[in-house]
Amino acid sequence: MTIKQKFGPKGWTPERLGSLDGNTYVITGANSGAGFEAARVFLAKGARVVMLNRNADKSAAAIAALKQEFGPAAEVTFVRMDLAVLDSVRKAAAEVLAKIPRIDALICNAAIAQVAKQAITVDGFESQLGVNHFGHFLLCGLLFDRIEESQGRIVVVGSNAYKMGRKKIQFEDLNFDRNYTAWNSYAQSKLAQMMFAYELQRRVQAAGKRVVVQVCHPGASRTNLLMDTASPFNKRVWAILSRFIAQSAEKGSWPEVMCATEESVESAKLYGPTKRAETVGPVGECPLHKLALNREMAARLWTLSEQKTSLNWPL
Ligand SMILES: NC(=O)c1ccc[n+]([C@@H]2O[C@H](COP(=O)([O-])OP(=O)(O)OC[C@H]3O[C@@H](n4cnc5c(N)ncnc54)[C@H](OP(=O)(O)O)[C@@H]3O)[C@@H](O)[C@H]2O)c1
Repeated sequence: MTIKQKFGPKGWTPERLGSLDGNTYVITGANSGAGFEAARVFLAKGARVVMLNRNADKSAAAIAALKQEFGPAAEVTFVRMDLAVLDSVRKAAAEVLAKIPRIDALICNAAIAQVAKQAITVDGFESQLGVNHFGHFLLCGLLFDRIEESQGRIVVVGSNAYKMGRKKIQFEDLNFDRNYTAWNSYAQSKLAQMMFAYELQRRVQAAGKRVVVQVCHPGASRTNLLMDTASPFNKRVWAILSRFIAQSAEKGSWPEVMCATEESVESAKLYGPTKRAETVGPVGECPLHKLALNREMAARLWTLSEQKTSLNWPL
């Protein structure tokens, strides 16, 4: 099925943005890659950016680079948060609630990918599921009321990987104790993030809450994503391949900026680059595999996520 694109042949670009003065964007994993580039776009438009990052030194370097570019008055700050540790997420959320009165969008951008050997977080989760899904689930739940007060948005950054791998949440062996592979476990974590987002969209609508939830992906972008975690072989392959098949991190950030700001976005859609199997090219609506909209699996995942994060999220 051909999708009729709304934003013309160039797709959505930050040129569509007016001033974002007075708005606040909270971005996870914003010291590099797409998250850093999204911060640049928001600051260029006069917004305030709050980075939720795990590494203080890298965050200081990122903030210094942004202040160099946008001037010392640029409103960019950092709250330490390690998504791999639920207690760290709780502390970071409490700090955000204490210091940030308004959230126009929370962008769930941080991730780890293709972790070569199975690793388990302190809370007992396979590391990609723990960081990418459970950490963000808890963060979204804890910040939800503040986002609603601001009539803000939640943007979940997914991946084309959601429709690869085992194409399901492996409830019977969530941590892949029996059949771990770097690819399948990453794919499960991105499917979990996206299923959660569409389930949140449905629950928000049913409850009449004033929060927009959107889902996007950056296609194939040249970032640090595999640098820490992938096997040496996969890193080498990606280092070469990405020169030919991937786009810049800057372009990779546009879908998340679009989902955080654009009026004409819709529910049950996926936004990202639209060319070469949705890896690069103009940003617009991408085909969405029905897998991500499986309500039964999503409801089960929601209940499980509440249990695993000890969060009571009455939506
Ligand atoms: N690049 C691609 O081709 C591609 C394709 C599909 C989807 N994506 C998605 O795009 C998003 C952005 O990734 P990227 O490509 O820009 O990669 P990136 O440059 O590696 O950025 C990921 C960010 O997440 C942070 N992070 C990792 N683990 C964390 C944790 N435990 N707690 C808090 N922050 C953590 C990293 O922090 P550190 O600097 O401390 O490591 C980094 O700032 C991810 O959701 C990814 O799944 C990317």
